[in-house]
Amino acid sequence: MDALLDIRNLKTSFFTHVGEVKAVGGISFSLRKGEALGIVGESGSGKSVTMMSLMRLLADSGKVVDGEILFEGADLIKLTEREMERIRGNDIGMIFQDPMTSLNPVYTIGKQLMEPLIKHKNMNKSDAYKTAVHMLSIVGIPSPDKRMKQYPHEFSGGMRQRVMIAMAIACSPKLLIADEPTTALDVTIQAQILELMKDLKDKINTSIILITHDLGVVADVCSRINVMYGGLIVESGSTRDIFYRSRHPYTWGLLKSVPNPKTLIKERLKPIEGQPPDLLKPPVGCPFAARCEYAMRVCINERPPLFEIGTDHVAACWLNHYQAPKVQSPVVKEA
Ligand SMILES: Nc1ncnc2c1ncn2[C@@H]1O[C@H](COP(=O)(O)OP(=O)(O)O)[C@@H](O)[C@H]1O
Ligand SMILES: [Mg+2]
Repeated sequence: MDALLDIRNLKTSFFTHVGEVKAVGGISFSLRKGEALGIVGESGSGKSVTMMSLMRLLADSGKVVDGEILFEGADLIKLTEREMERIRGNDIGMIFQDPMTSLNPVYTIGKQLMEPLIKHKNMNKSDAYKTAVHMLSIVGIPSPDKRMKQYPHEFSGGMRQRVMIAMAIACSPKLLIADEPTTALDVTIQAQILELMKDLKDKINTSIILITHDLGVVADVCSRINVMYGGLIVESGSTRDIFYRSRHPYTWGLLKSVPNPKTLIKERLKPIEGQPPDLLKPPVGCPFAARCEYAMRVCINERPPLFEIGTDHVAACWLNHYQAPKVQSPVVKEA
């Protein structure tokens, strides 16, 4: 088995003054070497908490309460803080939504790029400098030599995002996690950043996890998609299966709200009505039942398991047990 990452039954909670918030309620998925996986779902579905659990960067009140996070076979949950620091600097790179949270305003870009190379890769200053310049050129920053001496505020939003990607890939991580990397950017720059990520996948053969609330964004970059809702994976499959053969009403709802003509949606754009579940008291049945126009009694009373739909395609919806042939994805035809 060539899995780089294998997450098994991960449960993460926040212990707050009002009670236990079950942010991730038991999810399992794996990622192969060189694969690009998309994780999609509305805001609050547990995407970031899943990644923060993996990186061990949860807020103080957050705790992994069950499960395993196997990275190259070793359980990250069992590592010491020191070993984990090494993994973060070396093996797993992360790009956050807001570049300013991971760039230090008082140091030059050059210094910030070189530091991890010196610390984690034992490079001398001159090699670290050359590598840093090379990274800036890989991510498409013009005159990288000159840019090395500049500070974060001297870069535009899109260029800062590129710098952050350069930092995340400088140590050639085996896994690159991008959490909504384009949300704060305008549409043209979004497209450029996504193009860049696709390029990197080929150039440095990194595995990628791309998190977004927009299904249109993952279609181009990722070959597989996990759909999350209420702290659970409700559907998982190849990008084609998710777009053209989805078997979960929540995924259909997301597809209908994709603002992208490439997806050939026949209905008008519309957001899914209603609110996500209260994670202080997660519903016993399907987390989506309260908002689902197809909900049956069983959906309220019993949590649907992930039904096998096809090869590497599963969906946690009772419709697949009772009346699968009648339901279908809102996408009209394959591109
Ligand atoms: N620091 C925190 N304290 C309490 N609850 C939190 C905290 N961070 C996240 N949560 C809970 O976890 C849920 C999932 O959050 P998150 O993973 O950030 O969602 P998203 O899918 O938008 O990335 C939130 O809806 C919230 O209920
Ligand atoms: Mg998030």
